[in-house]
Amino acid sequence: MPAPGETVDPSRVHALDPDQLAAAVAAARESIRAAADLDALAAARTAHVQGAAAPLVLARRELGALPREERADAGRRHNAARAEAQAAYDTRLAELTAERDACVLVEERVDVTLPAARRRRGARHPLSSLSDRLVDVFVAMGYEVAEGPEVEHDWFNFEALNMAPDHPARSEHDTLYVEPTDSGRVLRTHTSPVQIRALLDRPLPVYVVCPGRTYRNDTIDATHSPVFGQLEGLAVDEGITMADLRGTLEVFAQELFGSGLSTRLRPSFFPFTEPSAELDVQCFACRGEAARQPRQPCRVCSDEGWIEIGGCGMVDPNVLRATGVDPARYSGFAFGMGLERAAMIRHDVREIRDFVDGDVRFGLPFGIEV
Ligand code: DAH
Repeated sequence: MPAPGETVDPSRVHALDPDQLAAAVAAARESIRAAADLDALAAARTAHVQGAAAPLVLARRELGALPREERADAGRRHNAARAEAQAAYDTRLAELTAERDACVLVEERVDVTLPAARRRRGARHPLSSLSDRLVDVFVAMGYEVAEGPEVEHDWFNFEALNMAPDHPARSEHDTLYVEPTDSGRVLRTHTSPVQIRALLDRPLPVYVVCPGRTYRNDTIDATHSPVFGQLEGLAVDEGITMADLRGTLEVFAQELFGSGLSTRLRPSFFPFTEPSAELDVQCFACRGEAARQPRQPCRVCSDEGWIEIGGCGMVDPNVLRATGVDPARYSGFAFGMGLERAAMIRHDVREIRDFVDGDVRFGLPFGIEV
């Protein structure tokens, strides 16, 4: 470019002559037309129309170097050339933008009618829900919840419960012993040791309900599991009689299986209660009808008309003595039941293994109580 005031040889500013401008426009058009996407188009624009090194931009700088009388013409020519290049750019921009939008519509399509991948909400285990429900029945009657260790000492699990080391009832418990075997520790075979702990720890009167996990060396099958839940209850007070036991268990049985069902106590034996009984509740499915009319078989009670739900009895004086309670002044009742068994009867579950398998589908019919 000439310095200010310098006389100009028009041949030096040939960038503005019609052929040069036409060539610059043609090159711009070619490059713009060849641009395959918006990025390439922007690059073509910078190279040919707008960038500091674009021939059309450089040509414009030369305007001032022309003699005054030629400037207007050259300016018009340059403007026309620039407008042509710009128009080519605008057209290609419109085309490429439309192409890109069409692509986006296809590639980023979202089918809002597809089912969403929902995350399932967690839910309580059916046994936990049942245990809490049963505990609540007793809490409503004024009982407290008591718990004890699952690794228990022989004294709590057996001896204080009137089962001396040579007591034959021990053999029914299929006990799992904790090493070293002379440590006297066992995996508790029932929740009854919590009775002993409650009587030792708490001031009288004692009304406790004790849910918990228990262990026995049982071979697993459809109705047996080495790990299972129990619910234990204990009431020790002045003047407690078997009528209190009966009334309490009736409330409990009706809560578990439905109102209006009778209960019965069948004589039995447990070392820690005297007298002892099995608690039966009238079958909730046939309401005892199957026993009266054998032509209508009942799967739930096997036509017995009654379902056995647990053991109970009046606390043996030896148990009271072992915990320092005076049997001349205090008496009490106790009961214990298997949680899985209750849940299986109540919900027609055929396999005890279903409770521990961890298949979430098993829990679904029980609802999503959280
Ligand atoms: N502990 C007994 C068992 O596991 C169940 C039981 C029976 C508990 C009678 C009691 C009871 O408290 O009074 O077989």
